[in-house]
Amino acid sequence: TSADVVILGAGPAGLTLGNLLHAAGIDCVVLERADRAHVRTRARAGFLAANTVRILERHGLADGLHRRGHPHGTCEFRTGNGSFRLDYGTLGRGERHTVYPQQDLVTDLLTHYLDAGGRIRFETEARSVREVTGPRPTVDVREADGRPGRWRARYVAGCDGRHGAARRSLPASALRHHRDHGVTWLGLLAEAPPSLDAVGYAMHPDGFAGHMARTADITRYYLQYEPGVPGDAWSEERIWAALDRRMYTAEHGPLHHGRIVQRSVINLESDVVEPLRHGSLLLAGDAASLPAPAAAKGANLAVLEAELLAEALIDEFSRSDSRALDRYSRRCLDHIWRAQEFAHWMIQLLHAPAGADAESFFHEAMRRSRVESLRTSRTHQDWFAENYVGI
Ligand code: APR
Repeated sequence: TSADVVILGAGPAGLTLGNLLHAAGIDCVVLERADRAHVRTRARAGFLAANTVRILERHGLADGLHRRGHPHGTCEFRTGNGSFRLDYGTLGRGERHTVYPQQDLVTDLLTHYLDAGGRIRFETEARSVREVTGPRPTVDVREADGRPGRWRARYVAGCDGRHGAARRSLPASALRHHRDHGVTWLGLLAEAPPSLDAVGYAMHPDGFAGHMARTADITRYYLQYEPGVPGDAWSEERIWAALDRRMYTAEHGPLHHGRIVQRSVINLESDVVEPLRHGSLLLAGDAASLPAPAAAKGANLAVLEAELLAEALIDEFSRSDSRALDRYSRRCLDHIWRAQEFAHWMIQLLHAPAGADAESFFHEAMRRSRVESLRTSRTHQDWFAENYVGI
């Protein structure tokens, strides 16, 4: 069992990479811990940046999102001073999101990869990557039947997320930048049609609430939540009461309620591993950097990094040109830190400081001023739009 490139993880990063390498005739395999059904149905993010769509189009991977995704270019801020809308699709670079549930994208990528004859092993968990500093790294796995196995590779692409084997196998020299933003969300999927034709961000004295369309009958909501409280502590009635209260505006009707079909507690954290390359181990997607979910950058960074990594590996295998591989980490980190900075800005915009002391009061006054500037300054709005949809 060997492949030139062993890819860990069948998320957006691993499957984009697998498709691009396979199409270029490079011998690769994807090892995925979960089973096929789980990979195809796991609900995650849903907002694709214009650049992500361009990358997927370039490689013939955008048919599904063109057919079933829909363009989106408006967000609405609801504050104590009333609400205002930003048609970000007409601001900044004039780019819009494509709303397309991540599990649908993953399903498309998987189908395309398998139809093209790509190799994937489900229910195969990578345990560790060894000898990453040498030319022949190996991946120790637990096979679907529970037995241990080993894959040999020339390169290992760690696309197995934040808790995967790639991160566990990093040499001690790897830097990990981590930030806990001190904010917790309850992430919800409701069996209800969207209540706004916009992304909704409510900044209420009780805390933040968010609204994001997914499909005609599924809507994603977020509620700022008490840290440490289990996700099932609140009844559905209590959740809807909180959403109704925090998202209320006099100008708009009530929210469409529905059954809560999924809930998860999300601690807002960010991290970056630096560099993204350690010898023959290369990181992409959440394995490389977790952007806090406040700006929907995760899947978009994953696809961008996968394309850069594929191009670098193709240069290496087809022309023995390793310059792009040498530059891979630096190029990704520029995008990663841009996304991190904007996510951090969003978190500070959307959440009141925790304390009631003078410093918190100062920060809260600055936050109000920031919102006001966003409401009134066209230049600020252009900057917001460029960063919000851009990557
Ligand atoms: N061995 C094999 N596979 C693994 C292992 C392991 N040890 N650990 C995790 N995996 C698999 C997971 O089951 C998952 O399918 O790796 C995959 C990682 O996929 P994602 O978590 O979707 O990560 P990524 O491709 O980097 O995409 C980032 O996904 O986390 C969301 O919101 C985030 O949108 C972002 C995007």
